[in-house]
Amino acid sequence: MTVLPPGPPEPPSIQTARWLLRPIPFMESCRRRFGDAFSVTFMGFTTPMVMLSDPAAILALYTNPKHGLPPGRSIALMPVMGPRSVLLLEGAEHLARRRLMLPPFHGERMQAYQETVRDVAVRELESWPEGVELAVHPRMQAVTLEVILRAVFGVTDVARRERLRTLLPKLLDSTASVSLQFKVLISRRYQRLDPLAFLQKLSAQIDALLFAEIAERRADPNLNEREDILSLLVLAQFEDGEGMIDEELRDQLLTLLLAGHETTATALAWTADLLVRHPHALRRLTEEVDTDEGDAYLRAVITESLRLRPVVPLAGRRLTSDLELNGYTLPAGTDVTPAIWLTHTRPDLYPEPYAFRPERFLDERPTTYGWVPFGGGVRRCLGAAFADFEMRVVLTEMLRRRRLDAAVPSAERVTRRNVTFSPRRGTRVITWRRADRSPSRTSVQATPAGRRVAGTPAG
Ligand code: HEM
Repeated sequence: MTVLPPGPPEPPSIQTARWLLRPIPFMESCRRRFGDAFSVTFMGFTTPMVMLSDPAAILALYTNPKHGLPPGRSIALMPVMGPRSVLLLEGAEHLARRRLMLPPFHGERMQAYQETVRDVAVRELESWPEGVELAVHPRMQAVTLEVILRAVFGVTDVARRERLRTLLPKLLDSTASVSLQFKVLISRRYQRLDPLAFLQKLSAQIDALLFAEIAERRADPNLNEREDILSLLVLAQFEDGEGMIDEELRDQLLTLLLAGHETTATALAWTADLLVRHPHALRRLTEEVDTDEGDAYLRAVITESLRLRPVVPLAGRRLTSDLELNGYTLPAGTDVTPAIWLTHTRPDLYPEPYAFRPERFLDERPTTYGWVPFGGGVRRCLGAAFADFEMRVVLTEMLRRRRLDAAVPSAERVTRRNVTFSPRRGTRVITWRRADRSPSRTSVQATPAGRRVAGTPAG
């Protein structure tokens, strides 16, 4: 039967408002009313989007590499990332970029960034005031931005780095607000003026800095000795032997910034919020980072945090062929996405699904399609291993140096920032330097080859 699963009867404007303002109650009420799969209709779109939460359905969706992207991703991100972004291209063009960009992001390469990430984290942590309320989220944004500037862009010129440090957050902030997302959808619906036009001047300033960086890299006789990801991308070649042109390198740099900065900072802020609300887990993790006896609990904490607080709520596809699903046949052309939050809170996959229990991942890794914070298939997050590694280094340094307490009694609630689910008040904590800290731990291990944890990208 080629009908879509049922969904809320409200007009698209109401569904959009509920999704933008209170996404979790919206999705949970749909689950209660319609079960594992339902169709929602957002303003500015002519066809509904089917949301799924059953791992078998997600597997069926993600294992067909031919499906395209729903238009939402391009509407929100194209003005900033540019038309050649690996996150936005489809089909053969996407796969060619992905092949080129995968090697620098492989798990085993991450050790090369250990010192950089640690230096950035330590500098930030040492600047935290003691005994006063502090929001973790903006502090982690500073860390992840600096890590991208150094490890991905490889900017060594101090003045240029300072300019980018000022300009890039403006670009990111200007695209983050819910009201801007409303305006973009309204302009699409009523063909109004582009609400993102104001970004052009800012983008031009950033582009000039990035093109200067790329030009220097091309002229560098010792380019193949450099470790940063831009250098590896300048050297990389497509199958026909050609490399990326400057404009494409610029698009990929902004893509990596936008995809990797806010997401990782948000995941770190959520992890901090969960830890300060669960003293037993915080104590156990602190004990682990104080010794040199592996990082099993740290990995479990990160996996559980990304389960219970998935940063990116949707990672959808536009079907290029029919998809069989729970008695329905979704026709080619339908937009379909896992509702990641709903998958991660299924009681059949996770007993006591709303409880933060890292122990559940100590002996068992999550199943591939029951744990999808990084999406899946040939579009699975390219930076998953990078994010996992960065989180482990930053959390290790944070707990080795700081004692953390919650500054407010209740746990953070979810708000939207751009395409992410973010902690509403920025995770407010009070921290003290640890007088008792043990300096023994020296390095965070790369994920061994072949082990796909929070993890090595597929495809
Ligand atoms: C905790 C942090 C992160 C989360 C939760 C996250 C999540 C995601 C998700 C859900 C997708 C879409 C996958 C799909 O459609 O199946 C994605 C794609 C992507 N991410 Fe991440 N990401 C994170 C960190 C990073 C980092 C650090 C980088 C790079 C520095 C990065 C680069 C990318 C790129 C390039 C894509 C596009 C892949 C493609 O379309 O082939 N991400 N990410």
